[in-house]
Amino acid sequence: MDWIYSISQLVKSEFQKMPEDQEQIEGEALYKIVRSFFDEPLTVQKDQKTVEIQTSPILVDKLTTIQLRQCLSLVDKNLGETMTLVYGKDWKSDKVEEMRDPGLVYLLLHHDTEFVGFISIKAVEDNESHVLYIYELQIVRNYRRMGLGSKLLGILDQIVELVNSDPAYTSKFGKLEGLSLTVFSSNEGAKKLYFSKGYRIASHSPAVRYLRNRKIQPDYFILVKNKI
Ligand SMILES: CC(C)(COP(=O)(O)OP(=O)(O)OC[C@H]1O[C@@H](n2cnc3c(N)ncnc32)[C@H](O)[C@@H]1OP(=O)(O)O)[C@@H](O)C(=O)NCCC(=O)NCCS
Repeated sequence: MDWIYSISQLVKSEFQKMPEDQEQIEGEALYKIVRSFFDEPLTVQKDQKTVEIQTSPILVDKLTTIQLRQCLSLVDKNLGETMTLVYGKDWKSDKVEEMRDPGLVYLLLHHDTEFVGFISIKAVEDNESHVLYIYELQIVRNYRRMGLGSKLLGILDQIVELVNSDPAYTSKFGKLEGLSLTVFSSNEGAKKLYFSKGYRIASHSPAVRYLRNRKIQPDYFILVKNKI
């Protein structure tokens, strides 16, 4: 596929770069902790029925091309219009490169055989803080508003705590100071979710500007949730 090759990046360019093998090694350590957490399905309520969501943690270098395309296709369905507005019509090649960033840990979500969403996370240096960055949180439309996003964010909080209480991890890589993510300023639903879970606009985020009596929104905000 043409789009599975380009080199530039949307989010990564904002991070201080770690050597790639170091990113990979920390990703492997993070993956082990994530895998130990997801040994049972998640349960959510849909139409007053309990639905079991199977979770598959995968380190980025083990992600198959089909899985990557499935994830990209969901990003396109969910946010493609905004991505095109903000980054231009060729956003997918950059996004694919970002989605293959060394050290990323994916969690693919299925209901029976149906792909219902995914998250991808990575430990990064962002604005001189060592944080767990949520690269993606994407849920298929029919599986939204049943608490899945909230549940996943709660689990990510617990993963940060697990990481920070694991001497094998922290002696090598240091503690995670919190969580961070990027959200489009127009994404009201996601902002509502994140703010309700304790995320705040970071001091290093692009900010709203006021021009005479006009309010100018940036394209996106960087949100943070501090843990230590
Ligand atoms: C944003 C997203 C991940 C939320 O996942 P979700 O599983 O629907 O979230 P939850 O069911 O846990 O929602 C919890 C609360 O967040 C708020 N919320 C979530 N989505 C909302 C929306 N579209 N509009 C308004 N409020 C919303 C509500 O307060 C909701 O509680 P309620 O359903 O009791 O009113 C999901 O809508 C999604 O995948 N959207 C497309 C991709 C995207 O925008 N990802 C975020 C990128 S930063």
